[in-house]
Amino acid sequence: MILEVRDLAVRFGGVTAVGGVSFGVAAGTVTSLIGPNGAGKTTAFNVITGFQRPTAGGVMHDGTTITGWRPHRIAARGLVRTFQKTSLFPGLSVHENVLTGLHLRGRVGFVAALLRRGRVGAEERALDDEAERVIGFVGLGARRETLASALPYGEQRLLELAVALAARPRLLLLDEPGSGMTISEKSALAALIQRVRDDGITVFLVEHDMRLVMGISDRVLVLNYGRLIADGSVTEVQRDPEVIRAYLGTGATRERA
Ligand SMILES: Nc1ncnc2c1ncn2[C@@H]1O[C@H](COP(=O)(O)OP(=O)(O)OP(=O)(O)O)[C@@H](O)[C@H]1O
Ligand SMILES: [Mg+2]
Repeated sequence: MILEVRDLAVRFGGVTAVGGVSFGVAAGTVTSLIGPNGAGKTTAFNVITGFQRPTAGGVMHDGTTITGWRPHRIAARGLVRTFQKTSLFPGLSVHENVLTGLHLRGRVGFVAALLRRGRVGAEERALDDEAERVIGFVGLGARRETLASALPYGEQRLLELAVALAARPRLLLLDEPGSGMTISEKSALAALIQRVRDDGITVFLVEHDMRLVMGISDRVLVLNYGRLIADGSVTEVQRDPEVIRAYLGTGATRERA
């Protein structure tokens, strides 16, 4: 297991967001975490990536306990996330946003990278090559100089994916990457996620679009009111009566704008 979460609990005052869950994410898989609005999915991601301290329980990455570590230190280990709400710099171009992702992994100062743009040195060229590679990978090659704020919503989500990939993740956590995408953008996203996995990056996905989830996941975890109610293959989870009752049976690919 590249990631192990043990007896994780998060309470906000009287609200139990996560009520004591344990699970693992196997290296080299696409593992999805699904469940109704408010089930605790984002809260779990926040704890894993250091944005939220748990009330109880712990997180291990590759055998090292990382519970309570600061986000940048966790990112430096290769646990890189995207956010449910956009985290792009709207006034920066596609290319400049991707440079911020290179910074996440701590390899180059963000400000330095921006200031030195245009100077022709081996280091800048290497950075630009890497930025170019991920921009091309997500299919935004023609948008390199476009401001993030000027991109259609679906392409903003692809840019968020590119920024995360620029940080060279070993474990990539995606919080509703398909929200706001058109059907064709979602199928392109599904193909991209599978290519990411095939490149050896483990993917941990939170997503409400069940077609997307069931099409690409090696394993599915189901949260409901902060409790893990299922953990299995796509087929096992789709047939699980409790999962159908709590989530799938509601017929929804629910997302919030
Ligand atoms: N900072 C916070 N303070 C208080 N309550 C919070 C906080 N963050 C989350 N919660 C509550 O914890 C519960 C779980 O929220 P969370 O955002 O993890 O759900 P989710 O599964 O990601 O839902 P969605 O699918 O809508 O994104 C909800 O009841 C939410 O209102
Ligand atoms: Mg959420």
